[in-house]
Amino acid sequence: MTKQTLAIKGGQPIRSIPWSSRNRSDESTRCALMAALDAVNWSNGDFARRFERRLSEFLGCRFALLTTNATTALKLYLLARDVGPGDEVIIPALTFPSIAMAVMECGATPIICDVEANTGCMSARTFEAVLSKKTRVVIPTHLYCTLCDMPPIVDLAKRNNIDVVEDCAHSPGARRNNYSAGTFGNAGIFSFNQKKPLSCGEGGCLVTNQTEVYETARYLRDFDSPPTKSSVRIQRMGKISEFQAAVLIGQLDSLPKHLRAIEERAENLREHLNYMTDITLVPRLPGTDLQTFYNICFMVNENINVAFFRKALSAELGIPVSSSYVPLNQNQSLNCTRDRQFINYAVESKVPCCTAERIYRYRAVRFPGYYLNIDPTAVDDIDSAITKVLPHAKQTQMSEEDAHAYR
Ligand SMILES: Cc1ncc(COP(=O)(O)O)c(C=O)c1O
Repeated sequence: MTKQTLAIKGGQPIRSIPWSSRNRSDESTRCALMAALDAVNWSNGDFARRFERRLSEFLGCRFALLTTNATTALKLYLLARDVGPGDEVIIPALTFPSIAMAVMECGATPIICDVEANTGCMSARTFEAVLSKKTRVVIPTHLYCTLCDMPPIVDLAKRNNIDVVEDCAHSPGARRNNYSAGTFGNAGIFSFNQKKPLSCGEGGCLVTNQTEVYETARYLRDFDSPPTKSSVRIQRMGKISEFQAAVLIGQLDSLPKHLRAIEERAENLREHLNYMTDITLVPRLPGTDLQTFYNICFMVNENINVAFFRKALSAELGIPVSSSYVPLNQNQSLNCTRDRQFINYAVESKVPCCTAERIYRYRAVRFPGYYLNIDPTAVDDIDSAITKVLPHAKQTQMSEEDAHAYR
């Protein structure tokens, strides 16, 4: 066996020492959590309000509303804006399936649009291709480690009287042209689930500058809140506990430091990759002040056997390496559900989503960005692993089966 023998063929892997585990507990989080435990209220208390205030200051918006998760935050927005049967909501083909579910649960129709080849994000161009008189809302997802180009999307939406809700599940703290992700349009949603850069295990948030949306969404979130000026509506159970809010307060303190560390290392990796053909880290848009790296995502050229490449890279580094999301129009549970409520839905697009499908099948390679945070030597290892694996992946033919095998 030579040094160049791939780890999947029995060779020595590039990463020979195990990764240390991801430990997010710190002094600030522990203190806040203990204080929440000693407080009188374990729900609907000072910690939730403090976090909401701190997050809105951090992002530069007027209101933040904590919810059980991002999906609930989106549903509350749609309900607050009375989006329902007969309305269309545009979402990108490459996003988390619960975005479509939230739309369907409000009785509206999700309409899938295609994405751009370089970022995997939707754009004004792909949005315009599916726009109709029924469109009420568009939900751009800032995907993995880049941003949607928001100004043209917001422009097009404004001209057509459509609301823009940014899905910022992957990008808390990302900033471009002095705006935080989540503040370009009418609202933003954030996820604080286990995998996310800002986490409390499970949780989410709706942010907005619009008083009426905020007040209605808050009323709808709290089963026990008194009726407001708005007409009486069925309220939901969307609050999180004080413990989760306390953890978020601690985690928000250290978020900027972690984001900067990952960004610096990821940009360093981008410089290394600039010397390679056939592989590109998804781009940093001009004017970006801070880029988040929830996942490190590369696009490879189509002469590379991407399924082989992912598998071989994973073996060299000892980390999970996957493709992009399955395009929503191909998502089984959304399109073949046995739930009677949704039996007549098919999450289809009015146009083919060829770019999303090519990205999923032939181009995307991603892994969790936190590996760059837990070990400063990660960049060198990733760079060496790509350098070792890429020539082999170029020479290996990809079967149709391969194209679906590794996600
Ligand atoms: C892009 C994106 N949007 C929305 C969600 C939903 O978040 P939650 O689990 O908080 O509802 C996720 C979850 O992973 C996501 O990745």
